[in-house]
Amino acid sequence: MPFAVDAATHTYYDLRAGEYDDWFDGSGLFAERQRPGWTEELDRLVRALGALPPARTVDLACGTGYFTRYLRGFLVGVDQSTEMVRLTQERLPEGLAVVGDALNAPFADGVFDRVFTGHFYGHLDEEERAAFLREARRLGSELLVVDSALRDGVEPEGWQDRVLQDGSHHRVFKRYLDGDRLAEELGGEILLDGEWFVVARVRWDS
Ligand SMILES: C[S@@+](CC[C@H](N)C(=O)[O-])C[C@H]1O[C@@H](n2cnc3c(N)ncnc32)[C@H](O)[C@@H]1O
Repeated sequence: MPFAVDAATHTYYDLRAGEYDDWFDGSGLFAERQRPGWTEELDRLVRALGALPPARTVDLACGTGYFTRYLRGFLVGVDQSTEMVRLTQERLPEGLAVVGDALNAPFADGVFDRVFTGHFYGHLDEEERAAFLREARRLGSELLVVDSALRDGVEPEGWQDRVLQDGSHHRVFKRYLDGDRLAEELGGEILLDGEWFVVARVRWDS
């Protein structure tokens, strides 16, 4: 299990929480990154999320709540990192953020309409992906996955060295996905197959 139950992953994201949104905003360590079209595509993505019908939603591995806050309905964020959860809670005045395991979430079966996840699925290996999909299906009848799009110049999958502002180095497993691949893995449909982001949805009959 390379990511979701790895103590090193948890330490990394806890340490990164305060600077995590620099990745979205192109600030801090990301200020020099050349990402043509990033801002426009991110805007398009968050507008699409905001246009989804309101639903009782859980965001698994919500991070700072960057995406969670754009969803509508009764919102619950779950993350293993206390610091991430604190940041998400600030963004969810009407919702709730809780510390928990996205692969073993502290909720009864079927309590959500929608399960959402951003940039988590693409970090999971095959075994963790299967566990995640089982958990998503247990919790809700719809799953929406946002992740990093496969593009020129990136390794489709592998271990990456990540550096934080404090100079510390961390290793994470990461995959980049095209829309077809993601939709096929989920058994669903592509909602966005962009240069930077890919979004797919699956609806289960239950
Ligand atoms: C790349 S970040 C994604 C954050 C956010 N969803 C986004 O799209 O920006 C991955 C997140 O997964 C969380 N995480 C890792 N393993 C987890 C687990 N087993 N259960 C819940 N969260 C986990 C980390 O703490 C981190 O916030």
